[in-house]
Amino acid sequence: MSLSPTDRIFVALDTPDVNLAVSLAEKLQGHVGGVKLGMEFYYANGPQGARAVTAVGMPLFLDLKFHDIPNTVAGAVRSTLELNPAILNVHAQGGPAMMQAAGAALDGADGEKPLLIAVTVLTSLGDDDLEAIGVNDGAENQVVRLAKLTQTCGLGGVVCSPREIKAIRAACGPDFKLVVPGIRPEWAAAGDQKRITTPAQAIRDGADYIVIGRPITGADNPVDAAKRIADELAGL
Ligand code: C5P
Repeated sequence: MSLSPTDRIFVALDTPDVNLAVSLAEKLQGHVGGVKLGMEFYYANGPQGARAVTAVGMPLFLDLKFHDIPNTVAGAVRSTLELNPAILNVHAQGGPAMMQAAGAALDGADGEKPLLIAVTVLTSLGDDDLEAIGVNDGAENQVVRLAKLTQTCGLGGVVCSPREIKAIRAACGPDFKLVVPGIRPEWAAAGDQKRITTPAQAIRDGADYIVIGRPITGADNPVDAAKRIADELAGL
């Protein structure tokens, strides 16, 4: 089934404030495809806070980037299943056994299994940082290597930066899901994001989902901002 423009947008609610997150989710329901909650929110508010947001009724991308031994990651995945996340993630650098254990832990899901994806190389790491941790053939090669490993381990996709979309799509084929942050409409401020692209360009390049925070949450009118982005995608 093909995704509507709205379905493709996950709004990042990067705040420790439950009430703010819930009120943004309420406003944006029907104008975005889902919400993303990450460490900032989750470590402040736990599963109870996440439930307050999901009670609004939108799909949840729980962005906790698990990275530990296989048994512990499998336990973490099982513990989050009660929140019925639509998307969950782990670090691909945790290795094949860890990713496979995370995938196997999804068998405990009631109903539809979450889409389990991996983070390959954090976009904050440059080639110099990678060399410092013993990775010597550059970020792009490492990203593609880890994306292929993720696919081999049976996971459904990866989180990637806009500049990595085409290389991963070419290496992993059309069914591998690409979830892409670092998105800025032309009318929005870049903020601290450096390697950015527009919503339309990300989808044209092959993204399945785009993650957008401040251009929506920081707008004077978040609903209008979300509508402008969906309209931009509808015009493709
Ligand atoms: O506000 P903004 O649109 O920059 O938010 C992007 C979201 O995507 C944030 O939650 C950020 O942590 C996340 N993210 C990112 N770049 C990555 C991975 C995740 O911006 N490489």
